[in-house]
Amino acid sequence: MGGYNPFSLEGKTILVTGASSGIGKATAIEASKLGATVIITARDTQRLQETFDALDGHDREHKQIIADLLDEVQMKNLIDQIPVIDGLVLCAGKGLTLPMQFATREKLDDIFNINFFAPFELLRSLYKKKRLQKQASVVLLASLGGTQIFSGGNGIYGASKSALNTVMKFCAKEFAARKVRVNSICPGMVDTPLIHRGTVSDEQLLEDQKRYPLGRYGQPEDIAYAAIYLLSDASSWVTGQDMVLDGGVSIK
Ligand SMILES: NC(=O)c1ccc[n+]([C@@H]2O[C@H](COP(=O)([O-])OP(=O)(O)OC[C@H]3O[C@@H](n4cnc5c(N)ncnc54)[C@H](OP(=O)(O)O)[C@@H]3O)[C@@H](O)[C@H]2O)c1
Repeated sequence: MGGYNPFSLEGKTILVTGASSGIGKATAIEASKLGATVIITARDTQRLQETFDALDGHDREHKQIIADLLDEVQMKNLIDQIPVIDGLVLCAGKGLTLPMQFATREKLDDIFNINFFAPFELLRSLYKKKRLQKQASVVLLASLGGTQIFSGGNGIYGASKSALNTVMKFCAKEFAARKVRVNSICPGMVDTPLIHRGTVSDEQLLEDQKRYPLGRYGQPEDIAYAAIYLLSDASSWVTGQDMVLDGGVSIK
């Protein structure tokens, strides 16, 4: 690459979960374009391979690891294969639209397991096992739906994301002992398979975009560029923060 670039990720190894789709996929690809060596993980072999093929810089030692983060053995295998890394982006997650009165323990477990317990366990383990380099940067994917906007039906998902945000702040304080930074990104609606789950029609989604002052939902790259800032040395004084990216929809 060469030249002056404070956002360069050259020389950094970065692990991205949820890299087979949406925000994780875009983050892995853009990070590779900025010079990073990336380790990508998800469950779907074919879609993860597509991300792998789209990475830039195949002379670097990019790696792909298939793992279901809800499977204890696969999670352990994943952790065992992770070298000392400079960055971690926790994107794996899932949405749910369900009014609170219909919330069952089963539904809560389903969402909290992947949106909260899995990323927390991965983060905690990698820090404890000293796989996060001194001055490493961790980025968690929170959501506007957990912190700023409380639309009906979004409560269980929102609660899982606000729990993640709270953990982010505690980890930021504790992990500062090794200068490890921990931040989150809080997106509004981003055009990925997560929002096309059949609960809201494409027409309703198009109509909803009109609420956004900038006139559109986010693209995965809009989020990836913020993750890159947080992973790069340009943000070396930033920790414990939740960066809102939402086309202005939360302006009050
Ligand atoms: N899109 C939005 O509007 C939006 C807004 C705010 C926050 N977010 C958050 O941003 C993150 C990424 O969302 P996205 O929109 O990019 O979603 P997406 O396109 O649906 O991608 C979700 C990713 O999570 C992975 N995943 C799901 N369950 C998994 C499991 N058990 N083990 C391992 N990987 C698993 C999926 O991979 P496999 O299926 O291959 O396992 C996929 O790569 C999520 O945490 C989401 O909550 C999204």
